[in-house]
Order: sequence, then C-alpha cells, then structure tokens
Amino acid sequence: LPRVFSGVQPSADSMHLGNYIGAVRNWVEMQSDNECIYFIPDQHAITVPQDPAQLRERTRRTAAQYIAAGIDPEKTPFFVQSHVPGHAQLAWVLSCITGFGEASRMTQFKDKSAKEGSENATAGLFTYPVLMAADILLYQTDQVPVGEDQRQHLELTRNLAQRFNARFGETFTVPEAKILKDTAKIYDLQNPQAKMSKSSASPNGIIWLLDERKKLAKKIKSAVTDDGTEIRFDREAKPGVSNLLTIYSSLTGRPVEEIVAEYEGKMYGHLKVGLADVAVETLGPIRERALEIMDDPAELDRLLAVGAEKAREIAGPTVEAVYERVGFLPPR
Ligand code: TYM
Repeated sequence: LPRVFSGVQPSADSMHLGNYIGAVRNWVEMQSDNECIYFIPDQHAITVPQDPAQLRERTRRTAAQYIAAGIDPEKTPFFVQSHVPGHAQLAWVLSCITGFGEASRMTQFKDKSAKEGSENATAGLFTYPVLMAADILLYQTDQVPVGEDQRQHLELTRNLAQRFNARFGETFTVPEAKILKDTAKIYDLQNPQAKMSKSSASPNGIIWLLDERKKLAKKIKSAVTDDGTEIRFDREAKPGVSNLLTIYSSLTGRPVEEIVAEYEGKMYGHLKVGLADVAVETLGPIRERALEIMDDPAELDRLLAVGAEKAREIAGPTVEAVYERVGFLPPR
C-alpha cells in the first residue's frame, strides 16, 4: 500500500477549518486504501515562541482532534515528533545538502520572518522546511496530503530526496504532494482574499474546530459576501460566496453545482443560514468527541506512545542507512 504521511502544528488550542478541510478531512479518507502515519510537529511549533505548558496541552489537544475528526487509532499510528529522534537527526544531515540560497527562497520563511522581524526570526524558522523534509523522507513516504501553502516545501523535499539519492545512492522514496485543487485553500470569512490562518487579523474570520455551535453559526452568518446578489461560484468576482460554496461542498460531499442550483434565486443570507446549519451538524459532533477524548489524557498519552513506537521502528532503519551512506563511523 502507498505510504501517506502528514501533520498539523500544535500551535493553537484548536485546528481551524482550513486545517480540517484542506488537510485532515483528506487524511481520514486516505486511511481506507493507504498505509497512513500522522504526526504532531511540536519541533516545528517552537520555531516561533511558545509557552511550554501551553505547548504540551496543545499537543494533546491536537491528538484529540485527530481522533475526533476520524483518524482511527486502531489502524493509523499517530505520534509526537519530539518522541522520535530520527526527525532531528535526519534534519541535520539534510541541512548539509540544502543550499543557503535554496532555503532563502522559501516564501513561508520570508513571510514569517518579516512578521517576526529580522532580529527575532530564528535559524530554526529558516531551517524549518528542512526539518519538514526530514519528517517526510524518514518514513519513505509516497503521498503527503497538504494544503496549497505547503506546495513549495514539498518541492524542496523532493529535490533533497533526489539530490541525496544521486549523491549517496538510492535511499529515499521521492514523495508527491497530494493537494486537492478545490479545497487546497480555504479563505478567511472576514477577508476572503486572504487564506484562513491562525494569525488572522479578525477573530471572526477563523472557524475553530472547537468553536461552540452557537459561535460557529454566528461566524458563518456574519461572513463577508460580495457585490451583487447572485449566488454562483466565481473566485474573481465573488470570493466570499465562492469560499462559502467550497466549505459547503466539502462538509456535505455534494458538488458545488448542485448547491448553486439549490440556492438559485435565493439571497446570500439563505446560503449563510444553510451553511451554518451544515457546519453545526458536521463540526458539532467532532467538537464534542474531541472534548470527551481530552478528558482522558492518560489514554491519549498511551496512544501516542504506541504511535511513537511504531514510528521509531520505521524511522530507525532510514537514519541508519543515511548515517552509513554519508560516512559516519558506526558506534560499537
Ligand atoms: P500547518 O500546521 O500550518 O497546517 C496544517 C495543514 O493545514 C493546511 N492548511 C490549509 N489548507 C487549506 N486552507 C487553509 N486556509 C489552510 N491553512 C492550513 C496546511 O497546508 C497543512 O496541510 N509545515 C506544516 C506542518 C508539517 C508537515 C510536515 C506537514 C511539518 N512537517 C510533514 C506535512 C508533512 C504546517 O505548518 O502546517
């Protein structure tokens, strides 16, 4: 079976709707015909300042949301990055075959370091994409389901895999990004030109997976819409309505055209009320399940330990092969 690997950073109390629709929902579906491994990249999270107690709590919360969203602990291992030493070990080796200029061209680094200010941006933020490449290559991954914003990091990962293989001999599977065109970018509800993101300017523009039902409905009903009155999918002319249609389609599994037909002749307000109902029906149960799971941190920690054990079994041989090929003297 093809190997699938991906993760969401534990850098907020809750995932947002972009994480869910752009990534995690697809991870859930891919479990049926792939060998999936999912992880929680806590080492990536500390590339910007984190409160230690909060990071620990958010790591567990992220695990709870994976399960609540439908990741099946019986068949899909999931684990915490820092529990598997191979990630940091491989990242170092890969950073030594990554060009400084190559890393400097990563647009997410440019954006994030601009936001942190050049004095505050860390070397960890700079090498973040190399650690991400290590995550993926450690597991001989075939497919990486992610949103559009990770495309460039996946390109770097492929380049590093090919470079290492060419220089030291076949070692890594060259992975493919699995980016679903229709849902790869969910936009901010208050600013449908911008991607929905943890650091959004307006709190009402982001839907959190753990939002209460009432709040969820309210945010959708107050989403910014567009000029005119007609409900149709048109990213250019109707970014707000198009975003709502994308979310509607994704949460119901119904094609956009069908939803457009249903709302023909109706007003934006009707679409928002309809979507608010759909969101409450589909996301409400996920929230409640996640809260339930969070009530049993010991069980969560047990599942994470099982996942880490499995991950170390797969990652260990990759690190060994890499160390041997680059010429490290084996310890005895
Ligand atoms: P992160 O934590 O920022 O986001 C997790 C996933 O959510 C997707 N995503 C979106 N998709 C659609 N619309 C949006 N508005 C939106 N916002 C976020 C992201 O594309 C991502 O798939 N670097 C990664 C974490 C990571 C990783 C990895 C992922 C570290 N190592 C190895 C895959 C494989 C990140 O910061 O994702």
